Amino acid sequence: MAWNHLRNLNRISIHRILHHRFQPLVNARFFSDAAASLPQPQPKQPSPPSSLKDNELAKFAAISDTWWDSEGPFKPLHAMNPTRLAFIRSALCRHFKKDPYSAKPLEGLKIVDVGCGGGILSEPLARLGATVTGVDAVEKNIKIAQLHAGLDPETSTIEFCCTTAEKLVEEGRKFDAVMALEVIEHVADPAEFCKSLAALTIADGATVISTINRSMRAYATAIVAAEYILHWLPRGTHQWSSFLTPEELVLILQRAGINVEEMAGFVYNPVTGRWSLSDDISVNFIAFGTKSSNNE
Ligand SMILES: C[S@@+](CC[C@H](N)C(=O)[O-])C[C@H]1O[C@@H](n2cnc3c(N)ncnc32)[C@H](O)[C@@H]1O
Repeated sequence: MAWNHLRNLNRISIHRILHHRFQPLVNARFFSDAAASLPQPQPKQPSPPSSLKDNELAKFAAISDTWWDSEGPFKPLHAMNPTRLAFIRSALCRHFKKDPYSAKPLEGLKIVDVGCGGGILSEPLARLGATVTGVDAVEKNIKIAQLHAGLDPETSTIEFCCTTAEKLVEEGRKFDAVMALEVIEHVADPAEFCKSLAALTIADGATVISTINRSMRAYATAIVAAEYILHWLPRGTHQWSSFLTPEELVLILQRAGINVEEMAGFVYNPVTGRWSLSDDISVNFIAFGTKSSNNE
């Protein structure tokens, strides 16, 4: 089981990797802690750092017209959507004690889809009965998402907004469940981003993140094959060094107050052209975590 694999990890080596990877954060925290011990003229909380990376946003703005072209650059997300939705639906129903067989199993849940793009995930979540807010840092993505969702009365109620997770935190917004699918590899600081996601989640609420593992297999498949051989994605869409391993994701979520309870991999079958859930988390994976009530 993938989860057993995680449990068996050498915790010391994970800490070492993270210590090295997030050393600037550790130093930053040391200086901010030292500064905090001095008399402060303003008691106001400092704003969290921006999660935005301009070069990443420019890539998405350039292809924003193609969000709903299932054969275009977002073909992999369209193809993965039923599989990731199955994972989310079952994890949310189990956690929130909802009937997975009802027509609207997510009815009564407030969900935010952070980095929603054109709304590929927001729309089916709304069809499952959730009250959905979709946010993205690229204005053009939000316009496309609004236009597309407006075509169907079941999705036209989605609240789309061009903003970031950290700005929603500043506004005091809270959600039963927070989604950030295929976004964390594009943000400025994954640890700070996870803190914002955690702050948006109510006590006992859920956080779901999917991303790509920083493994050699992911380099070969998600970058070399997908971008250079199959041309599924524009070249340069992904930077291997920005990927997180599952162990790193678990740890930064834990530090943000989210305990990862379930993880699964997505594997692609080149014969059927379909994705399925798997214990293999070596390339694409999804994590479901909950926020304990002590972390409010
Ligand atoms: C690969 S797409 C994923 C879209 C969607 N989550 C999905 O899986 O269908 C990444 C999206 O994240 C958005 N994004 C990147 N950085 C962001 C940030 N810091 N805050 C909000 N959105 C961001 C991009 O504009 C883009 O639409």
